[in-house]
Amino acid sequence: MQATLVQGGRVVSADGEYDGDVLIVGETIAGVGEVEVPEGATVIDATGCLVLPGLIDNHTHLSMPFMGMMSSDDYDTGTQAAAAGGVTCLVDFAIQREPDQLRSALAEWQGRAEGAAHVDYGFHMAITNANDATIDDMAAIVEAGVSSFKLFMAYKGELMTRDDAMVACMERARDLGALTMVHAENGDVVDLLVKRALAEGHTTAINHALTRPEFVEAEATSRAARLAEFTGASLFVVHVTCAAAAAEIQAAQQRGVPVSAETCTQYLVNTIDDLRGPGVEGCRYICSPPLRDGSNHDPLWDYVQRGILESVSTDHCPFTDEQKSRGLEDFSLVPNGLPAIQHRLAKLWDEGVVAGRITPSQLVDRTSTTIARRFGLASKGAIAPGKDADVVVFDPAAPRDYGTHTSFMNVDYDLYEGQTASGSVRHTLSRGTLVYDRGKIVSSPGHGRFVARAGANG
Ligand code: URP
Ligand code: ZN
Ligand code: ZN
Repeated sequence: MQATLVQGGRVVSADGEYDGDVLIVGETIAGVGEVEVPEGATVIDATGCLVLPGLIDNHTHLSMPFMGMMSSDDYDTGTQAAAAGGVTCLVDFAIQREPDQLRSALAEWQGRAEGAAHVDYGFHMAITNANDATIDDMAAIVEAGVSSFKLFMAYKGELMTRDDAMVACMERARDLGALTMVHAENGDVVDLLVKRALAEGHTTAINHALTRPEFVEAEATSRAARLAEFTGASLFVVHVTCAAAAAEIQAAQQRGVPVSAETCTQYLVNTIDDLRGPGVEGCRYICSPPLRDGSNHDPLWDYVQRGILESVSTDHCPFTDEQKSRGLEDFSLVPNGLPAIQHRLAKLWDEGVVAGRITPSQLVDRTSTTIARRFGLASKGAIAPGKDADVVVFDPAAPRDYGTHTSFMNVDYDLYEGQTASGSVRHTLSRGTLVYDRGKIVSSPGHGRFVARAGANG
C-alpha cells in the first residue's frame, strides 16, 4: 500500500497543537508524532506549516434547483473549490420536490454526485411536503445513511414547511435517532414585507435584507426551539446570522433543550452594506437570512468562541451574474445564495485566529471536529490513527489573492476580489490522495465517495 509522510509540520487538533509527522498508509492515518517511516514513502514537506484535519462543510447546495434556476457549481467544480479551500468532506442538501418522495430525491442527488466529486460527500434530506408517505419514507432515508432532515420555515410557496408538518417531522426524526435542521425565518412575515416593499416601489437589492429583519429570524429560531422542546427532537439551526437569533439558541440550551447551531463565514465578515452596491453587484450578496449590520460581528464571534454556535459552515450556493441579474428590477426574483466554499479557512484564519478571536484549535473544532461528531461522520474530523487520511497542509505565511483568477468556484465574480489572505492551503489530501497541490487540482472527478452517516445527534 502506498505510504505518505507529512513531515515537519505543526499538527493542530481540537484539543491542542504539537510538532509531529503524520504517516498515511493507503487511505488511513497510520501514525502521528514520531513515526516509523516505511521504505518508499512519499514525503510531503510541511515545514513552517500547520497540519489540519480536512475541513468539513456541512452546509452546501451544489446543483441546487432553486427559484427557477440551478446553482452554478456542480459536484465536479464545487468539490474542486472545496479542496482548494481545505475541505475534504461536504454534506449537501438533497431536496424533495413535488411530486418526489424522499427516496427518489435522494437517488437524483446521488446521481449528480457519483463519478463527479473530488472529495467525499454525504447528504441531508430537505422535506418540503410532509405527507404520510414522506413521513413513512424517512426511515428508509436514515437506513441509506442520511441521518439529518432539513425543514425550511421560509421560502413560502417553494420550500416552506408549516408548523404542524414540522412537528410531525420532528417526532419522526426523534424516533429514528435523526437530527432535525431548520432554516429559521418566519416565511409568512417575510412574504408580507416583500409584497409591501414591492408595492411601494422598493425594488433594489438592499430591500431583500430590509424585508427580512432580525426579529423574523429570532422569532422562527425561538419557535423551532420550542417545537423541539415539545417534541423532544434534537434540533440544529442552520446559518444563524445575528445576536438576536443566537440569544434564542443560548436560552433554549440553558433550558436543557438539545439545540445546536452554526453560523457561516459570510455572517462573520460581510455586512448588510454589501447589498447597497450598484446593480448586480448588490444582488451578488443576496442570501437568506440576509447579511446583517456589522454590530453583529463581535457577538457572533463570541458565540462561536464559546461554542454556543458550535460550527461554521458556508451555505455555499453560487449563482452567476447572469442568474443574479434576473432580479435587477425586482429583488425578490434574485436567486438567493453566495459563493463561499473555497474561502472559509482563509477568512476564519485572518478574521478569527490572526485577529485574536479564536485559537487555531477552536478553528479546527468549529470547522471539522465538532461537525464530524454532530453529523455522524465517525471516520472524519481528526488526525488520529485509524481515521480517514483527510489532511490539509496550511501555510500561514503564504499569502494568496482572492479573485476569479485563483477561484475554482464556477461563478464569474469573487466576493473578496482585490483582497489578499495572509495564509493559504498548500496541499489537500483526501483519504491519502493528493487532490489540491499548490494552486492546482490534481485528482480526477469520481475520487470523492458517498459517506453513509450514522445517527447524527452528537
Ligand atoms: O440564500 C441562501 N441561503 N440560499 C441557499 C438556500 C438556503 O436557504 O440555505
Ligand atoms: Zn437556508
Ligand atoms: Zn443553505
